[in-house]
Amino acid sequence: MSTIQGRRIAIVGGSGTIGTHTLTALLEDKSHTITTISRADSNATFPLQSRGKKGDYTDESFLVSALTGHDILIIQLGISSTDQQTPLIKAAAKAGVRYILPTEFGSDIYAPFAKVFPIMSSKKQYRDLTEELGMSWIAVVNNPWFDWSLKGGLWGIDIANQKASLYVGAEGRFNTTTLKQVGEGVAALLSLPDGELEKYKNSPVYLSSFCITQREILDSAIRATGTKESDWDITTPAVDEVIAEARAEVAKGNHMAFIKEFYITHMREGTGGNYQEKAAKDAEVLGLKEGSLDEVVKAVVQELADVK
Ligand SMILES: NC(=O)c1ccc[n+]([C@@H]2O[C@H](COP(=O)([O-])OP(=O)(O)OC[C@H]3O[C@@H](n4cnc5c(N)ncnc54)[C@H](OP(=O)(O)O)[C@@H]3O)[C@@H](O)[C@H]2O)c1
Repeated sequence: MSTIQGRRIAIVGGSGTIGTHTLTALLEDKSHTITTISRADSNATFPLQSRGKKGDYTDESFLVSALTGHDILIIQLGISSTDQQTPLIKAAAKAGVRYILPTEFGSDIYAPFAKVFPIMSSKKQYRDLTEELGMSWIAVVNNPWFDWSLKGGLWGIDIANQKASLYVGAEGRFNTTTLKQVGEGVAALLSLPDGELEKYKNSPVYLSSFCITQREILDSAIRATGTKESDWDITTPAVDEVIAEARAEVAKGNHMAFIKEFYITHMREGTGGNYQEKAAKDAEVLGLKEGSLDEVVKAVVQELADVK
């Protein structure tokens, strides 16, 4: 990796699922000055090495004052509060911030499947606003978080109950990133010298811990649990049928049922879930290495056992 360049970085949502990992990795670099910004009524606590500002996001004077003197604003808001980005981006422009990392941390909005999912297309407006106000954005693309998704059974593999649905017609390779590696990737990106960081202006950065198939995740889960394939209840539904069922659920009003189609789509060849070439190029710039699948799966198995 190139020499670390210290920067003044403000982070919103640094207490959240991905924010915690981002803040930890940024603080480990020890070269940056980090300010956490949180809501006035937030109960979030932060490591002592960071400076904290709490206030109302509708109060522009609070936001401009909290952001003044910072080069970069990372926004990692929860999924139901992403609209709060507008006042944050507007205040950042007034405060002289140069780069915004908007709340993305998901799949590639340039991927062919993006049009199908409003959750992806809605992200573009914040990139556009950032550019309109004279700043630059860098969008972190990491696909569904690997360990977080595995814990929730979202890859179609339910470790706790030893059940798996291996989707027939979705056997492709796809990228996925651990929470820790997303944090480390952001920290490595923001430590690049100016000339290198500038190459990511108004572009995505592609992070990945693994480029794998659903079958490989199941094999790793079998090894990590010390079980045999015959101990598992494995079904092989046709992908089109599963998607039709998920869509029928959405039509009935269960809006979160789209998640099943969302994950399956990443596993289908040619949909955009596999961005390995771009991730490999960025990993080289950022000095990131692929992790050990078995180690990460083992840690998830342990975590699930601990909460039983
Ligand atoms: N790739 C994936 O698998 C995946 C999965 C889930 C989400 N994501 C993406 O990652 C982003 C961050 O998700 P996350 O799960 O890390 O978020 P999170 O933990 O749910 O929330 C992050 C922070 O948002 C702030 N917040 C919560 N409600 C708010 C409100 N009403 N108004 C303003 N701020 C509020 C809180 O910060 P304070 O308490 O400090 O104010 C909270 O700690 C999502 O928006 C989504 O784009 C990706």
